[in-house]
Amino acid sequence: MKAPVRVAVAVVVTASSFTLGAQQSFAPEAAPTELKAAVAAADDALVALRQRLTARLMEEMQKGGPAKAVAVCRDEAPALSAEVGRAAGVVVGRTSDRLRNPENRPPAWAEAAVKAAAGRQAADVAPAAFALGDKVGLLRPIAMAGPCARCHGTASDLDPAAAAAIRAAYPLDAATGFRAGELRGFAWAEAPLNHSLPEK
Ligand code: HEC
Repeated sequence: MKAPVRVAVAVVVTASSFTLGAQQSFAPEAAPTELKAAVAAADDALVALRQRLTARLMEEMQKGGPAKAVAVCRDEAPALSAEVGRAAGVVVGRTSDRLRNPENRPPAWAEAAVKAAAGRQAADVAPAAFALGDKVGLLRPIAMAGPCARCHGTASDLDPAAAAAIRAAYPLDAATGFRAGELRGFAWAEAPLNHSLPEK
């Protein structure tokens, strides 16, 4: 397994230019004890975001087709991210080296890792946790899968009506041309180290 090592090296090299200081990254399950609770909180938020977004996307794809479902990603994804994050005291988002929405740029701590993974198969990209002083950053790869191709695939897979809606809403779209199994992007989360569960 070379990939995690390479990512870690790239991050340490660029970290010298951040005010965050020396930034270390780990496989999430190998994070040091003092980071484990925050990594778990970050992971819970990512799972919640994925479940809620997938459920809404599939519901709308079945009901209105891909063109209608574009609105789920456009209008609901950012709001769902904010909601899931707030509930957990965590900040979550989605990013990629080829963005549809320029506002989904990676956070500074994730930039080098996102860039290093560009063009890879999702299975070859390891998740990583980052020590960020008083917080933990978590980055998990997202693979291209079947239904994604209607809106992120190659020209022959794209749904024409969805593609038109996407062109209208995202003039800078760079997120088409992906094939099944390729890395589409990442889900990321930041969780505070002093994370405590909401009082019951
Ligand atoms: C109905 C069309 C549609 C489908 C199907 C779809 N997406 Fe998207 N996707 C979008 C739109 C629109 C955005 C921009 C959302 C925003 O403005 O934040 C987006 C954004 C993203 C992003 C955030 C990074 C970026 O490029 O801005 C990721 C990651 C992503 N999609 C992955 C997927 C994956 C994986 C699937 C399949 C499970 C999928 N999408 C299915 C339309 C779609």
